Amino acid sequence: MHNVFVMTPEVRAAFENVRRVESYRLEGWMNPRDVDVFWLRFERYFDDLHYALDTLYGDRADTLEQFGRLFGRMVQAYAERPDPLKVLDLERQFTPRWFQRTHMVGYTCYTDQFAGDLEGVRDRIDYLQELGVTYLHLMPLMQPRPGPDDGGYAMVDFRRVRPDLGTIEDLKRLAVDLSERGITLCLDLVLNHVAREHHWAQRALAGEERYLGYFHTFSDRSLPDAYEQTLPEVFPDDAPGNFTWVPGMAGQGRWVWTTFHDYQWDLNYSNPEVVHEIVDLMFFYANLGAGVLRLDAAPFLWKRLDTNCQNQPEVFLLIQAFRAILRVVAPGVILKAEAIVPPDALIRYLGVKSTVEKQCELAYDNQRMALLWSSLATRKATLITQALHRAPQLLIGCAPVNYLRNHDDIGWAMTNEDLVAVGETPDLHRHFLNDFYTGRFPGSFARGALFQENPATGDARVTGTTASLAGLETALEHGEESAVDRAIRRILLLHALILGAGGIPVIHMGDELGLTNDATYSRDPQRAGDNRWLNRPRMDWQRARLRHDERSVPGRIFQGLTRLIEARRRTSLFHGFGLFQPLWSGNDHVLGYARKRPEGTVLVLANLEEHPQTVEAALTRHAGLSGETRDLLSGGAPPPQRHGRLQLDALSCRWLVDGSAEPLYPVRTDRRTRP
Ligand code: GLC
Ligand code: GLC
Repeated sequence: MHNVFVMTPEVRAAFENVRRVESYRLEGWMNPRDVDVFWLRFERYFDDLHYALDTLYGDRADTLEQFGRLFGRMVQAYAERPDPLKVLDLERQFTPRWFQRTHMVGYTCYTDQFAGDLEGVRDRIDYLQELGVTYLHLMPLMQPRPGPDDGGYAMVDFRRVRPDLGTIEDLKRLAVDLSERGITLCLDLVLNHVAREHHWAQRALAGEERYLGYFHTFSDRSLPDAYEQTLPEVFPDDAPGNFTWVPGMAGQGRWVWTTFHDYQWDLNYSNPEVVHEIVDLMFFYANLGAGVLRLDAAPFLWKRLDTNCQNQPEVFLLIQAFRAILRVVAPGVILKAEAIVPPDALIRYLGVKSTVEKQCELAYDNQRMALLWSSLATRKATLITQALHRAPQLLIGCAPVNYLRNHDDIGWAMTNEDLVAVGETPDLHRHFLNDFYTGRFPGSFARGALFQENPATGDARVTGTTASLAGLETALEHGEESAVDRAIRRILLLHALILGAGGIPVIHMGDELGLTNDATYSRDPQRAGDNRWLNRPRMDWQRARLRHDERSVPGRIFQGLTRLIEARRRTSLFHGFGLFQPLWSGNDHVLGYARKRPEGTVLVLANLEEHPQTVEAALTRHAGLSGETRDLLSGGAPPPQRHGRLQLDALSCRWLVDGSAEPLYPVRTDRRTRP
């Protein structure tokens, strides 16, 4: 075999050794061509995998045996991978930027809230397609614990679908149907913790050594107390502290590490057995047809004394190993980091320096999300422009997930440095945002709720749907037409900004129709304590029927959104592989940024004010456009100008391109017919 990928002599020797020892496993299983493909990929990713595992576990006496076991699992998963998925793997290897293309638009929902069950989701594929969705994240749907389950993130069985939603067979069928319609399925890989009712936890509870090793447990408070010195609390309000006393565990009782709720036990990744389990699970989801795996709570996977136990170097080695393994076995599957961390830490989940193209392909851009809400409240672009200027540029091979809302709360993630740089006082600004988005600030249009208020620190986060936070709920209640109009404009403006940013925009279920807060959760004892359910409403299919009627509120939002998605799909300029350049627009109320690609530039201008604004027409030249410009959002018309200034309507957005440019893709009508 030729050596395309250059390995150091040591790594090559290690690789040859694996090949010599392990060849028999493959040959018995598959046809020679599949074996070749496997070895080629293994050779290509061997270094990444070997380095990660060797650094993490190389000092153990059983390293070689561990590696052999892992290899065996990889071979088996590859052999079991359905043929259509193997074809998809090849297709995606040939087009490694598939997820950065401008037709990628995500949608996220709870299966039951959206369509009852998996069968119901199949019946709604038409709806998703009408909106332009090409990526569907179904929130956790495997068997959760009985009672409170953290929105499904406390699982007792990772391989069994919650019975009222359907079966694994239904999920497989759905994955095939989605794929035939050009939609990639995203599933959660809840890898930081299991529910205390999970059989691993139960066996640890009973004192089985093997399973005790899956968790972090302590017989007294000395270590937990030492760790607590530097650990933050995720849910200070209903789950304070990071350890839970479990009476009778392994005889005497133990403290168990529980970052989230007391019923979610953190897994111990210093034990390679845990890696084997999670890799197996990754294969299980990959082979049933998931194309994106969301690494839930990724920052928390490794613990270290005297730190906040987030973003530790070992986390990135684990991710590097997961990615390398997937690239060999199922390269059509990519990873998405759920890392709600500051920008400098976030970028590491996408790869920096020597880890470029070795980490997750996707990660939530939570800072940008929070900044968008901040700019909507202040009607000012200063803070977001400052922060975007300082945010690290994304490198090749990855993309941010841009979103406005998801099933969680909004934390005010802008950095103190950026706040200070624009003359804000960090605590005051965050308190202002909390007051504003709970409607307490005089004149606020928003209606949301505080989440996890921490009296000790004064910190809090906010929950609520996009529509309610953007003013629709209050406006509808007051029956004030101009306020309704402004709320709709805000909703579309925010979407124009996430759709116009490159990366994958993801729409949270219901936002396309302007669904407002759902307060009914408070009547359900399992949910009452968690107001994130405010922004997890049930789909309102009655309301959805109005989506074609532009005189209705849902119709205006839905049609506005599909036009944005269509305009984005037809240009290559928002492709993830491009430069992002924030601009000072010369008007504090106007947010401006350019996206640059070899074939051209698009300038995004957004007026955050409730009154018309103008910017100097010369701004288009600073952004790299020449001569006449056209607005992709108004059917290609040139933007109105007066006295050398571009006019922007209240709460409106423009996507400006060169007048002479021909960046249009024909509307895609072709649909993939094979998965
Ligand atoms: C993730 C989920 C969140 C959950 C937490 C614990 O952050 O998004 O909903 O509470 O993980 O699993
Ligand atoms: C924090 C955690 C995140 C979790 C969220 C839950 O932001 O970092 O993982 O989803 O809290 O609200």
